[in-house]
Amino acid sequence: MKIAVLNGPNLNLLGTREPAIYGRQTLKDIERALRAAAKPLGATLEFAQHNGEGELIDQVHAWKGVVQGALVNAGAYSHSSLALRDALTGTSIPFIEVHLTNVYAREPERRRSMLASAAVGVVCGFGALGYELALRAMVAHLGKNG
Ligand code: DQA
Repeated sequence: MKIAVLNGPNLNLLGTREPAIYGRQTLKDIERALRAAAKPLGATLEFAQHNGEGELIDQVHAWKGVVQGALVNAGAYSHSSLALRDALTGTSIPFIEVHLTNVYAREPERRRSMLASAAVGVVCGFGALGYELALRAMVAHLGKNG
């Protein structure tokens, strides 16, 4: 089972970006931990990070028919990008929305998600662990539905 992990703008800065909010783990650290977690679950992972909305959309298109599910932290585009949601629904890739922080406890503009209505589920507020929780949830979801 192949699962994609898509990260959006500014997540390449993890580790040094507002560490009091986002922690000290880099995206590479998260990737390493996720790969280790995926192995016993029988999942293989594909990672991508893009800062541009169009690049994120192109990446989703490229994964059509290639991955069975996706974990998506679209960063600030989570709150604004109908186009990214359309890409995910248009490619029929089931996805879980992930955020390191509890966006519902932050500024009002972060409390709206353009992706959530099309997601299998949402994991937020658990830092880097959230990706692993989402991975486990996606494997369970795909096991049940596919
Ligand atoms: C984020 C939350 C977003 O509001 C923010 O723009 C990010 C990171 C998170 O993982 O908590 O870039 O998606």
